[in-house]
Amino acid sequence: MTTVIAVAGKGGVGKTTCSALLLRALAASGIRPLLAVDADPNANLHLLLALGLPEALGTLREELFTGPPGAVPLTERLSSEVQMRVAEGDAADLVVMGRGEGPGCYCYVNNLLRQSLARLMGGYRAVVVDNEAGMEHLSRRNLLRIDHLVLVGDPSPRGLSAAAALRDLARQLALPVGNSWLLLNRPYAGRTLAEPDVPGLPLLAALPHDSRLPAWEAEGRSFLDLPPGMSPAADAVADAVRGTIGRAAS
Ligand SMILES: Nc1ncnc2c1ncn2[C@@H]1O[C@H](COP(=O)(O)OP(=O)(O)OP(=O)(O)O)[C@@H](O)[C@H]1O
Ligand SMILES: [Mg+2]
Repeated sequence: MTTVIAVAGKGGVGKTTCSALLLRALAASGIRPLLAVDADPNANLHLLLALGLPEALGTLREELFTGPPGAVPLTERLSSEVQMRVAEGDAADLVVMGRGEGPGCYCYVNNLLRQSLARLMGGYRAVVVDNEAGMEHLSRRNLLRIDHLVLVGDPSPRGLSAAAALRDLARQLALPVGNSWLLLNRPYAGRTLAEPDVPGLPLLAALPHDSRLPAWEAEGRSFLDLPPGMSPAADAVADAVRGTIGRAAS
């Protein structure tokens, strides 16, 4: 069974960083193969995985569905096209969703795309989905199931209430979420990470500001290759995953 982890939060809070660190933690717990899904139209997760940017799945809508019908059935063509757009990594592969579907009604198209994505995801032990700010992508229900919704928030009152608001929105939208978690990222000056109280949102981990992360990124190296003991933030995620999401997934 594939464990699906969706990462959400407000803009710039550290969603992509945390997605890459979750993948690293899962791989370190022996949970492989892994699929990273970049669901941000401004895709950049590939940079933290040191992979090239694969072509987005979203462009298949126009390419396959507005062209002349081919001899091969649409679902088969779609599956093979999706497979060709997987960037392969050592521990984690990557797909990029691309832009949203726009205002037109493409329900049939989107359903097929959704099903192809679900089939692809089924081939992996765990999937980590890095979302754009807010709930745009999740609310389109491109994920048929979310085992863990990880809400990244900074530990300011506004940061915590933004995380709680997203948790509430997920409930209102009746998204198929198993567990929701708070992942605190970067205390601001003078504030400790201790004991944030967001009812119904257990703390997965609290990450310190960690200058190794942007430095590692600037060197173009994969976050999956961060060795233990080098990055306090990466190690905090690994410790947290081992006792929670990772245990359930293995
Ligand atoms: N714990 C941390 N320590 C140091 N730098 C961090 C930490 N978390 C995030 N950053 C830095 O903060 C910046 C924003 O992080 P990131 O891109 O992960 O945020 P995001 O929520 O994905 O942003 P967006 O909403 O634009 O997608 C990056 O430069 C990243 O390196
Ligand atoms: Mg991001």
